[in-house]
This record gives sequence, C-alpha cells and structure tokens, in this order.
Amino acid sequence: MDKPSPAPRHLLTLLDLSPEEARALLARAIELKAMLRAGVDYRPLRHRTLAMIFEKASTRTRVSFETGMVQFGGHALFLSPRDTQLGRGEPIEDNARVLSRMVDAVMIRTFSHETLERFAAHSRVPVINGLSDMAHPCQLLADMQTYLEHRGDIRGRRVAWIGDGNNVCNSYINAAPVFDYQLVIACPEGFEPNATVLAAAGAHCQVVRDPREAAAGADLIVTDVWASMGQEEEQRARAIAFADYQVNEALMAEAAPDALFMHCLPAHRGEEVSAAVIDGPQSVVWDEAENRLHAQKALLELLLLPPA
Ligand code: CP
Ligand code: NVA
Repeated sequence: MDKPSPAPRHLLTLLDLSPEEARALLARAIELKAMLRAGVDYRPLRHRTLAMIFEKASTRTRVSFETGMVQFGGHALFLSPRDTQLGRGEPIEDNARVLSRMVDAVMIRTFSHETLERFAAHSRVPVINGLSDMAHPCQLLADMQTYLEHRGDIRGRRVAWIGDGNNVCNSYINAAPVFDYQLVIACPEGFEPNATVLAAAGAHCQVVRDPREAAAGADLIVTDVWASMGQEEEQRARAIAFADYQVNEALMAEAAPDALFMHCLPAHRGEEVSAAVIDGPQSVVWDEAENRLHAQKALLELLLLPPA
C-alpha cells in the first residue's frame, strides 16, 4: 500500500489554495513575521523534517525554507541530484515513495512541472513547488504579502508584468483570480505565458505587446530575467527579442505615481530592469525576498498543521 488516506495536501500551483485560504495565509505570514521580530519562541514543527530537492540553483528558496524549518523547531535536508540516487536514474516515483515515508514534507525545484506532479501523486506527505518550468507559487505568496504590507489589499488593483511569459508570470496569472487583481502582460511575440494557465484566469488577464500599454496606470510593475535557468544558451537571442522590454524610469513614469516595483531575483541590472529602478524608491525587492521566509512558514503551517 503506497498511499495513505486521506491524501496529503500539496501546493503545486496557487490554484491549490482557495481565495480565503490564500488571504488567511498572508495574514498569518505577517503575524509570524511580527512574532519572529518580537523574539517569540514558536516551534510547532519540532522533530519534523522537510526534504528539499533542488535540480537547479537557488539562494532565496533554499535559505528561506531551511531557515523557516529551523525557526519552527524542525529540520530541512538539502538534496541535490548530483549526490543522491535521483541523479543516477532512480525513478521519481520511487523517490517519492521512499522520501515520503521518512520526512514530513517535500519541496522540489525541478525543470519539468510533470516531475512535480508525478512525485506528488506518489507522496504520502505534502509536496511544495519550489519552482518548475510552469509555476513559482511560493514567490507569489511573498509578493502578495509584500504588496499587502506596503499598499494594502491588492483586490481591484492593476498589475503589469513586463517581459518573458515564464514560470513567475504564470504564477502571477494564477494569482489574479485568487487575489482578484487585473493583470496586463506585455511580452514579445513567441514569449507568451502558458495558454492553458492564461485561459483559466479568464477576464483577469490580458496580453499586449507594448510595455507602455501594460504599465499605464499600473499599481505594481513586475519583471523577471529574460533567460530563465536552463535557457542560458538562448540568452543572446532573448536579449535582442526583449530589448524594448526593460523596466526603467521612463516605463515606471507610465504607472500610477505610488506604483511599486517587484522582481523575484536574481536580477540583471541593465537588462530587464535598470539599476535606477531596482535600487530606487519604488522598489520593494528586499522586502519581497525576505517575505519568502515568512510566507513559506505560513504555508508550512497550513500544509503540516491544518486547523482542526
Ligand atoms: N526568487 C527565487 O526563487 O530565488 P532563488 O532562485 O535564489 O531561490
Ligand atoms: N524565471 C526564473 C526565476 C528564478 C527564481 C527562472 O526560472 O530561472
């Protein structure tokens, strides 16, 4: 018998959360942040372990999950295919069966979203998407927390995504109906977000070509690198395709006067964003990065300590 009953709860995309749960999670993240700052000793995950499988590089995701588990009294294991049997061809399903008999949750950063789905289908414990080619839901939890802290509820606000229709963009699309904002995506032809993800968001999202059209009146401007991990060989061609898609002061001037700027990081100054913007007064990227810790602690609570 492989699967326990009831089936564990996963976070593979933001659509795994109801709008109510997502909002409650942000409120809890803000609470956990305040508790940490106040020095409250809160260790609800004593003796619990999180396995973290990283097929790609990471700074923020690794450090935030590991630190979050330690703060909660638990432990995180960093697992790389380079030094586990995954890299020697052990099937993902077998990894899921074995790991999930030992640890309490698994976070995976992988190339193919399908790998994540196959792992989750054979896991006895919650599986968290730490970034796939399809989505980066943990990033969005931190971004939404950051917007809430700086500007209040994002409901009814206008968000502009400038650049590649990549994994983070797909998660902005998933988040639009969950948090009830309007998203305008400006991307060059051939770099659109996932069509199924876009269709599911319906009237909350539209794709345009002109970055100024997307930025016009926006409350939040977001971008990401032009070449994601695994696309390094396309870097030169992408730099040409995205040349008109830099978030700079001229583009920020199209947005609402109190618009915020976000970027999941790492950033390439002088490519997708100018140094003046990312290091400027409208940028909240450092809070955004820090909030990975708080939002993911709230997520771990939700998945591992569900309300009775
Ligand atoms: N934003 C983000 O996921 O960063 P890392 O790649 O450093 O984890
Ligand atoms: N789109 C980027 C995000 C990195 C956090 C990538 O996939 O490399």
